[in-house]
Amino acid sequence: MGFYVPENVVTNDDLSKLMDTSDEWIRERTGIEQRRWVIPGEDSTSGMGVKAARIAIEKAGLKPNDIDFIIFATLSPDYYFPGPGVQVQEALGIDTIGALDVRNQCSGFVYALSVADQYIKTGMYNNILVIGSELHSGGLDKTTRGRGVTVIFGDGAGAAVVTASDDPNRGILSTHLHSEGKNAKELALIGPATSRWVDQIMAEHDEKDLSYYPYMNGNFVFKNAVTRFPEVIMEALNQNRLKPEDISLLVPHQANLRISQFIQKTMKLRDDQVYNNIMKYGNTTAASVPIALTEALENGRVKEGDIVCLAAFGSGFTWASALIRW
Ligand code: UT7
Repeated sequence: MGFYVPENVVTNDDLSKLMDTSDEWIRERTGIEQRRWVIPGEDSTSGMGVKAARIAIEKAGLKPNDIDFIIFATLSPDYYFPGPGVQVQEALGIDTIGALDVRNQCSGFVYALSVADQYIKTGMYNNILVIGSELHSGGLDKTTRGRGVTVIFGDGAGAAVVTASDDPNRGILSTHLHSEGKNAKELALIGPATSRWVDQIMAEHDEKDLSYYPYMNGNFVFKNAVTRFPEVIMEALNQNRLKPEDISLLVPHQANLRISQFIQKTMKLRDDQVYNNIMKYGNTTAASVPIALTEALENGRVKEGDIVCLAAFGSGFTWASALIRW
């Protein structure tokens, strides 16, 4: 595992200079104290992904050319197309291996991991690089109009190398994926899309067109998240005949600290069973699970044999979990 976040720290007080918000409001509603935002032009989603990937590959004791497949999850690609997977292949100087882009927003990393897991289990590939990376700051409305969305998002990247193991008792035990497209527009960025004709957009040239900023029905998303998270975690536990008390560490998508606390309470988990770092990085969407998991590993919170549960919920809606015996 490896992660990378930009050096530029943006505190809640920094945001209150841009818009009508306060440190108190942001902390109370989200638990976020600061986030990292790329200095404009200094990095990119693919660039941060590559930095996280280099660390993960080195920690795995491998060289870039040992990687035989790339999976890249993001909602904020450098380009509309192609997706950033190919940019990673180029930047790491890897041979012409396959590169797949996953578009599942906050659940992107767990979805990507499920794909890697299946390729490994069928024997198709041996060392798969899975990346979650987001550059949100370039696309947010940084005025008071956008405060309900903008204050929660941060930039960063996390990566994993998923490798075949001979030990049948270790590894990814199961993954569980869900979606509910009827809520697609409750958390979405509609603007730059083929559903809107480009020539029409150019002709309108409307500065009040807010469809270029992410829209989030915050309360609605929150209510769905606190139901779906426990559901999909229980699904993973039940399939493996385990109980909440068997979880060594739950690494939930860092959507909002209040959501994590709600899950912990509902599932009666102890503090040491749940990992949170949203206070430092905000919500980094597809990057949040691999960033948190890497940090948990570095802090000694995961040991061999532990039952680690990853879970995520977000735009789509999509939600997912993965249960791992470390
Ligand atoms: O990543 C996965 C998907 N995302 C999530 O899981 C996020 C889920 N939702 C949330 O985390 C919360 O809904 C938010 C943190 C985004 C918002 O919190 P909330 O408690 O749902 O606030 P709200 O949108 O109901 O707004 C309450 C009030 C409103 O004012 P009035 O109408 O009561 O006067 C907002 O205008 O707070 C106001 N407000 C703010 N005030 C200061 C909204 N954003 C801000 C802000 N600073 N940044």
